[in-house]
Amino acid sequence: MKYLLKEGIVVDAKANSAKKLDILIEGSKITAVSENLDCSGLEVLCLEGCYIFPGFVDMHCHLREPGEELKETILTGTRAAVKGGFTAVACMGNTKPPADSSAVITLIREKARQASVPVYPIGCATKEMAGKEPSEIGELVEAGAVALSDDGNSIMNGEVLRRVLEYGQMFDIPIISHCEDTDLSGNGVMNEGYYSTLLGLQGIPNASEDVHVARDLILAGLTGARLHIAHVSTAGSVALIREAKKRGIRVTAEVTPHHLCLTDEAVKSFDTNTKVKPPLRSREDQEALYEGLRDGTIDAIATDHAPHRRDEKETEYNVAPFGISGLETAVPLVWEHLVESKLLSPVELAQKMAWNPSRILGLPERVIKAGAEANITVIDPRFKLPVNVGEFVSLGKNSPFDGWVLRGWPVMTIVSGEIKYSRQL
Ligand code: DOR
Repeated sequence: MKYLLKEGIVVDAKANSAKKLDILIEGSKITAVSENLDCSGLEVLCLEGCYIFPGFVDMHCHLREPGEELKETILTGTRAAVKGGFTAVACMGNTKPPADSSAVITLIREKARQASVPVYPIGCATKEMAGKEPSEIGELVEAGAVALSDDGNSIMNGEVLRRVLEYGQMFDIPIISHCEDTDLSGNGVMNEGYYSTLLGLQGIPNASEDVHVARDLILAGLTGARLHIAHVSTAGSVALIREAKKRGIRVTAEVTPHHLCLTDEAVKSFDTNTKVKPPLRSREDQEALYEGLRDGTIDAIATDHAPHRRDEKETEYNVAPFGISGLETAVPLVWEHLVESKLLSPVELAQKMAWNPSRILGLPERVIKAGAEANITVIDPRFKLPVNVGEFVSLGKNSPFDGWVLRGWPVMTIVSGEIKYSRQL
């Protein structure tokens, strides 16, 4: 297999450049990157006007297998990933049973051999995700876990988290924290503020997240461990992480496309697809997330793809499960709302969606240069298309973005030299 990607704008997060170049791919590798490469005798794919990125990595998704295969499987979720422009994913361990043993990590890796993209499992931080005692962390790392997290649940006991961080430090893997004080969240279903009062729904205050971000940063400082804050949603968290980074705490952070593109005003629709944890926050929080992305406080954009069954979401707001199906809309949402509006440059997008997620998880470097693995995401910024959940390949149709007209759709996803997805527009 040998082909040439011609005349696309090649974005390189490391070299901080975006320029028109040709890319030669042979087998699984990029073998040449240059202007006007000789294309005689080669299959040529003309990508004029498209942006060519190092392959995007989703460092936070829920693939639901084992145990909840009606919501998603490793196969359907990874098909959704390539369609969404991702060349690798890391999946959270809140499966049934949870990924707190080498057996479950091994099962996920076995199933992932048939998947469209490499799947990197994240092991549970505590046994049964109960937050009571650390899981067998050495065993999980040996089986292939790239990080540890109880995402979906909070580790309420600070002493338990301290010990998880200490083990994480020994293996030099990140501990990914779902920061939530569950007492402060109570039975809340949306952000606490003007709209929760207006709608008569119980609110989750910003403090629920901020208190745990502050605690976790203090414990990261105490242990010297690598802490990664999942789905940052509040202005308070951004300020705390910014300050901790200045003090040299080993912390990284991610934000989701839905927190960047929606505020709690969207809950006015009572659409249960807007119900997510952490909840959609206020406009001020959203502005702080933009600022955090711009100044490097927030390192990554991750989907937190959380597929649920249609019948589970087709119910009252108070009883519907939390979560948004995000793999197939992340890229155009971020392109339309952040790149088109100049909040992020294409190079910064490559940093947030390819370079930083792979660096945080210790995955192979995402670069476009001769000798590198051919993992590539191609985006065409010219076409405006509506989101259509009916066309999702994910089993999770729970998206609040159905019908949104967006630019910046992924049009080709190449994984280790293989064109796994390509879309004619
Ligand atoms: O909304 C969410 N859904 N937030 C989480 O942290 C977990 C996720 C899920 O697993 O459904």
